[in-house]
Amino acid sequence: DALAANFTVLPNPNKASDAKRADIIDKPAFGQVFSDSMAHMTWTKGEGWGDRRIEPYAPLKLDPGASVLHYAQEIFEGLKAYRHADGSTWLFRPDANAERFQNSAERLYLPQLPVDDFLGSVAALIKEDRAWVPSRREYTLYMRPFMFASEPFLGVRAPEEVDYCVIASPSGPYFTGGLKPVSIWVEDQFFRTGPGGTGYAKCGGNYAASLLGEYRGIAQGCEQVCFVDAATKTYLEELGGMNMMIVHKDGHVETPSLNGNILPGVTRRSLIQLMADEGRDVVETMIELDQLLEDIKSGEVTEVFACGTAAIITPIGRFKSDKFDIEVNGGKPGELTTKLREQLLGIQMGEIEDPHNWMWKV
Ligand code: COI
Repeated sequence: DALAANFTVLPNPNKASDAKRADIIDKPAFGQVFSDSMAHMTWTKGEGWGDRRIEPYAPLKLDPGASVLHYAQEIFEGLKAYRHADGSTWLFRPDANAERFQNSAERLYLPQLPVDDFLGSVAALIKEDRAWVPSRREYTLYMRPFMFASEPFLGVRAPEEVDYCVIASPSGPYFTGGLKPVSIWVEDQFFRTGPGGTGYAKCGGNYAASLLGEYRGIAQGCEQVCFVDAATKTYLEELGGMNMMIVHKDGHVETPSLNGNILPGVTRRSLIQLMADEGRDVVETMIELDQLLEDIKSGEVTEVFACGTAAIITPIGRFKSDKFDIEVNGGKPGELTTKLREQLLGIQMGEIEDPHNWMWKV
């Protein structure tokens, strides 16, 4: 509350009616509609951060010469607001997103946003648009903080004017099938990043670079793309917009280690903790694609799943490329995948104990 109070709420004559909002927030789409308001702050080289406000959600005024439109100095975050059975609203580990936002800013040569401003902006927007937090299970108000270089200047240099905004979208899971396994295209020609690149930063460019691979997969009937490392084309890295975990027959779990190319997912980190809590062996390591395929065929690997804020946990039922096409667990969701999904959703929805105090009431 104290941090949210730093943001001035501007009048908003265009709020949706209760009936219109109720109709919208029940729809199972990801990121298609937006709430009434947005948080906004600006930064200049001379003055630093200021002008903290909650304003009506509206198109931005952007100079066509704005640096971001030419050189992509942009970073973002994704986190969700959950409504518990008693009507209260909560965030899941927003401090982890605030910290990653700072790491992303450093990589893209954007200014650091203080953690208090990140938390305050998200909290102030939820306070204003609380009615937009859905109550249906798996449905949330997806919060999207982002920062970009806004000054009109075509020289390639550190930004001198920057905007930071938070928008909010009532959203269902990224994959509408819930526990229905998705098919993955393994891309080995077009990479999203490489050694020393921006892979660990949450910048728009990484997602732009993923699209060619993603659509090569879609043309082959797949729903997501999986990237291998650009340097050797040997090791699994991550999917187009989420991390990946692999469950072995003996119960141990492996996930690609954070080698600088991979986004350090908050869901990834949380699942590693939850599994460690119950004594399960979780190994962050380099995973060879060829070994994975062999282990799926032999039954050594029993489940593979995708994990991310937007995706929650989604089983992977198939890996495909122009060289192979192989089913995981008979194309059915695995037991651990299903259990972890319930456990994570249970914590987020306030249905079971939150052993690490990950939930923040807002
Ligand atoms: C998230 O999981 O929040 C993301 O940012 C992934 C995005 C590509 C939808």
